[in-house]
Amino acid sequence: MNTQDAMKKQAAEAALAYVEDGIIGVGTGSTVNHFIDALAGIKGRIEGAVSSSVASTERLKGHGIPVYDLNAVGELSLYVDGADESNAQLQLIKGGGGALTREKIVAAASRQFVCIADESKLVRVLGAFPLPVEVIPMARSYVARELVQLGGTPVWREGFVTDNGNLILDVQHLEIMEPAKLEQQINNIAGVVTVGIFALRPADVLILGTPDGPKTLRA
Ligand code: A5P
Repeated sequence: MNTQDAMKKQAAEAALAYVEDGIIGVGTGSTVNHFIDALAGIKGRIEGAVSSSVASTERLKGHGIPVYDLNAVGELSLYVDGADESNAQLQLIKGGGGALTREKIVAAASRQFVCIADESKLVRVLGAFPLPVEVIPMARSYVARELVQLGGTPVWREGFVTDNGNLILDVQHLEIMEPAKLEQQINNIAGVVTVGIFALRPADVLILGTPDGPKTLRA
C-alpha cells in the first residue's frame, strides 16, 4: 500500500466513528472501498446500506452487508463518500469514478454527509481536477458546446458508460470561484443529468488522512 492509499484507509477507518445503527449511505471509489472493508468489521451493528454504484453494491454484498433500494428506506442518517477535490467550505468535485448521479441522490437523501479523502484532495479553488458532467448520449455535442461557452474545455470520456447508461464529459481548465452558481448553470443545460460539483449540498464533515493522523474539518 502506498502512502496516499494508507491515508485514504486512515480517513475511511476514522469515519466508522460516525456510524450508528440503521442503514448507511455508501459512496464509490478507492477510499470508500476501504470504508466498506472497515464497515464489514462492525456489520453486526448496522442493518445494511444504500449504495451509490454497482461496484460498491458488489463489494458490500461480498462482505455480507445487505443492500437496500433508496426508495424502500426513506431518509438516511449518514452518507459516507470520497471526493476528487474539496475546498475549505467542503464544497466538492466528485465523479472521477463516474458514479456522480447516484452519489448526488444519496447525499441529498442523507442528513449527514461525511466525506473521506487523503490530504491531497483539499484545494484552495476547485477545478484543477477535470469536472465530470453526466449527459444523455444524444446531448453530448450540444452540452459540450454549452460548456465551452462557460469557459471550460470538455473532453468526452470515450468508452465509458455510467451505471445509468449515460456518458461523461470531463471539463478541463475551470477555475471554479463560485461553485454553487456554476453547479446551477450547468444543471440548467438541457441534456445534463448531473454535474459533479457538490456545492448546493456540500459535505458536513471532511476527514482527511494525513501523515500526522486523521484531521477533521466541518462546514
Ligand atoms: C466516484 O464517482 C467519485 O465521486 C469518487 O468519490 C471520487 O472519485 C473519489 O475517488 P477515490 O476515493 O478513488 O479517490
